[in-house]
Amino acid sequence: MPLITAVRVADTIAGMRRAREEMCGTVGLVPTMGYLHEGHLSLVRRSRRDNDYTVVSIFVNPTQFGPGEDLSRYPRDISRDLGLLEKLGTDVVFSPPPEDMYYEDASSWIVVEKVTDRLEGAVRPGHFRGVATVVGKLFNIVEPHRAYFGQKDAQQVVVIQKIVADLDFNLEVVVCPTVREPDGLAMSSRNSYLDSEQRRAALVLYHSLQKAQREYSAGVRDAGRIRREMAEILQSEQLAEVDYISVASPLTMEELDTVEDQALVSLAVKIGKTRLIDNIVLGG
Ligand code: PAF
Repeated sequence: MPLITAVRVADTIAGMRRAREEMCGTVGLVPTMGYLHEGHLSLVRRSRRDNDYTVVSIFVNPTQFGPGEDLSRYPRDISRDLGLLEKLGTDVVFSPPPEDMYYEDASSWIVVEKVTDRLEGAVRPGHFRGVATVVGKLFNIVEPHRAYFGQKDAQQVVVIQKIVADLDFNLEVVVCPTVREPDGLAMSSRNSYLDSEQRRAALVLYHSLQKAQREYSAGVRDAGRIRREMAEILQSEQLAEVDYISVASPLTMEELDTVEDQALVSLAVKIGKTRLIDNIVLGG
């Protein structure tokens, strides 16, 4: 059924390229997988401020989901998304089907080494290959001057900055702050999986990050101690199962012994079947 919306929707690569040719001025791209929340909308607002045109892509990218991950149940509501984007004055929504983005005989990938060996990259093999490839394709199709990403996916941001630098994509990566619910939970499309008891339990991620911030503000620089303090808080929540707690270099993602300059404090925790991630930067 065709979608009735005032926002221009390009649902093929050719359609997106035609729309792009009509744009004379700067173009901002906000790549998303849809089911938009305030975090995405903050990126769209920022792009609208910075650029003459804003393109939002909505594409649930199959190649960044591993076997047994939530690709088939990933939340989708394109009509609602289009309504929100129309209100914000988005110029074009690029929403192709998977068969338009991935050709049957395709065998090329963007693989980022080293920074993907740890954290999300270690727990989700192949995830960043999928992210880097689809983002590289979006850059080639939309040809934006700027692309907008949330700090919530801190390692993803580093991966995208690497492909832009290493492969000479001619654009600026703009990183925007994590948007939180009033009680501190980082906004995520996956929060919609949580029932009310799990939603309460999910706050433990934010509480453990606040503990790390308090320790740092009190002068603690021992990364091991910060990890232990966070682990203690996370263990106090019965519904939480920790995947990792990390205090690492924000550039290389290597674990630190001592926080000398900046540190990326990040964690991944399962609440029931829902895997949530969050982070803060110390000394930022
Ligand atoms: O952050 C996301 O939603 C996705 O990883 C992205 C950048 C849109 C690529 O599919």
